Amino acid sequence: MTRCCDAFTNRRVLITGGLGFIGSNLAARLVDMGAEVLLVDSLIPQYGGNLFNIAGIEDRVRVNISDVRDEHSMHYLVQGQEFLFNLAGQTSHLDSMNDPYTDLEINCRAELYILEACRKRNPDIKVVFASTRQIYGRPEYLPVDEKHSIRPVDVNGINKTAGEWYHLLYNDVYGIRACSLRLTNTIGPRMRVKDARQTFLGLWIRLLVEDKPFEVWGGEQLRDFTYVDDAVDAFLLAAASDDANGRVFNLGGDCVISLKELADLLIAINGSGEYVIRSFPADRKRIDIGDYYADDNLIRSVLGWEPKVPLREALARTLSFYRANLPHYL
Ligand SMILES: NC(=O)c1ccc[n+]([C@@H]2O[C@H](COP(=O)([O-])OP(=O)(O)OC[C@H]3O[C@@H](n4cnc5c(N)ncnc54)[C@H](O)[C@@H]3O)[C@@H](O)[C@H]2O)c1
Repeated sequence: MTRCCDAFTNRRVLITGGLGFIGSNLAARLVDMGAEVLLVDSLIPQYGGNLFNIAGIEDRVRVNISDVRDEHSMHYLVQGQEFLFNLAGQTSHLDSMNDPYTDLEINCRAELYILEACRKRNPDIKVVFASTRQIYGRPEYLPVDEKHSIRPVDVNGINKTAGEWYHLLYNDVYGIRACSLRLTNTIGPRMRVKDARQTFLGLWIRLLVEDKPFEVWGGEQLRDFTYVDDAVDAFLLAAASDDANGRVFNLGGDCVISLKELADLLIAINGSGEYVIRSFPADRKRIDIGDYYADDNLIRSVLGWEPKVPLREALARTLSFYRANLPHYL
């Protein structure tokens, strides 16, 4: 990462969703690089934003509690910024089915507000969008590369697709430099662990730390995981390189693992713990994508990114963070 460190020294950076899991980890890295960081977050209670996520850097960032659905705020907030990491989002797939309009407003319509604000007030800004592997739907082949068809299985996947494509459109039509990272399951300190709304793994970690059994649904499914520091590397590389403009990149992990193997690994690292295998709840099964793992060769070759933190280490660091800090996340 040394190669792009200098790109952010004394540079003005806006992070939407900056009090969330990935946004706050990105903010911590950027302030260490000497960037002037502004975090915009709505802190809607059931989402992943948490003021504790910036404990230790709160004096080195500016925080604006705003909603990206507020067009007027966005017009003001993008002004003077050199980089925009666009991470604000409604992230629950199930919630997007139960309340599709809220997902539409946040993950689709608000992206247009943000991009229109850039077009009208700050067309020189560079934007990196946080997209998701969910947009591919059920894989037709594995590993999934960026050429895979887009066939979302839930409302969230459709709105994230639109959000991503607006960014590409504004890059192509208006020259607002933008690119998109299609994240797979990202894990690490500051992830939401309260319940399984966002990710099953968060709840597993919470229950392990509380010394309670957790549920593994199915168990045979294959997944890959990116440690949050590696995801942050990817955001910074994508922001710093004009080779990324107008492109989409998958992020993957250092290995592929079944959910049952993941549960066993977590328990081995923790030194104790129990789980029960259950069948998928019906409402989740309907929108489940089955096995998934990414082909991330494109970002490796174009931007020189690679995941550096092995899964075992990623899980150990995450467990240790929640052992020390769980009450702040309940
Ligand atoms: N964590 C993952 O595994 C993963 C996987 C794929 C994609 N992503 C994408 O990465 C981005 C960040 O995810 P995360 O894991 O850090 O989630 P997170 O929930 O921790 O962070 C999202 C942040 O956005 C904020 N937010 C939500 N709605 C908002 C609104 N209307 N206005 C302003 N702020 C709002 C939330 O308060 C939260 O702080 C999201 O866009 C998500 O779709 C994450």
